[in-house]
Amino acid sequence: MHDQSLAGQYASWAIEFHKVGTWAKLPGIQNHLRFFACYTVAGHLLACNIQHAQRSNSWLQLKPALLQWNLLLLLHGALLGESRQCFPTGAANASLCAMKFSVSEISELIRHRRTIYPKDYSAREVQREIVERVLTNATWAPTHGLTQPWRFTVFSGAARERLSQFLGETYRAQTPPEKFLQKKFDNVTQRPLQSTVVIGIGMARDPKGKINERDELLAVACAVQNMHLTCAAYGLGAFWATGGPMTGSAMRDFLGLQDGDQAMGLFYIGYPASEWPSGHRRPLETVTTWLSA
Ligand SMILES: Cc1cc2nc3c(=O)[nH]c(=O)nc-3n(C[C@H](O)[C@H](O)[C@H](O)COP(=O)(O)O)c2cc1C
Repeated sequence: MHDQSLAGQYASWAIEFHKVGTWAKLPGIQNHLRFFACYTVAGHLLACNIQHAQRSNSWLQLKPALLQWNLLLLLHGALLGESRQCFPTGAANASLCAMKFSVSEISELIRHRRTIYPKDYSAREVQREIVERVLTNATWAPTHGLTQPWRFTVFSGAARERLSQFLGETYRAQTPPEKFLQKKFDNVTQRPLQSTVVIGIGMARDPKGKINERDELLAVACAVQNMHLTCAAYGLGAFWATGGPMTGSAMRDFLGLQDGDQAMGLFYIGYPASEWPSGHRRPLETVTTWLSA
């Protein structure tokens, strides 16, 4: 078979292997197949090009081979972007796949995550791709009955000004004159302008109402934690604000949610202008009871 068509054959096998791996929904097997597919294609293309270079006696021909090798490594990276999560162990235990996350890195990320307020953000814009990743990770939160109740509204550019105006008006409308605080009004209206991206967090009830409201709210909170952790991994500070104007029925309507749904606050994102703050927590023993009998 001609080198090119043989390479094509290998490539289509690789795709089929990959599909089977995906259908199988077995992470260990999937990764076996992905490894196999990537290295089969990479190895074959390299071999084809080496043969071609030998035949034409021009080692310059190896340049595309190396390029292809690099491309395949990139493909490998894309397919196995999560490779550290799951490697086949070969161990004779029940698990097909030992989840090899780096617990120390994950723990570090969890502890590193910090609430950072918009007044402490720099003007550096948060790119849309980053926001998409943050939101995609949100959607991988656990959800009772898979109702996926989270709804997001992303404010950027001039939309932040509309948000700022809405928050100011709502704060004024909801606050009796004797309780009105200019500092609070300024905070509420300035924050959307100090942040290049603000995300409205909503909880939409499942039309069948099969899951209780509390669980739907908890699922959204899990989603927000995913967002916060993803931000921290990008070096982004974030702030989940749930004060009066951010969570009432006015905000629910502003976010285009329905009766029965809930506005769950605003999530501000930004690159910190100064040093990353440190955090602290109570010792575990003050919040844990161990029962073993
Ligand atoms: C559900 C929820 C709502 C919050 N709402 C507010 C808020 O309205 N205003 C505020 O200043 N911080 C708010 N925060 C952020 C907390 O103040 C912050 O998480 C806490 O100070 C601990 O800091 P850390 O996030 O850096 O660990 C909220 C946090 C959560 C989880």
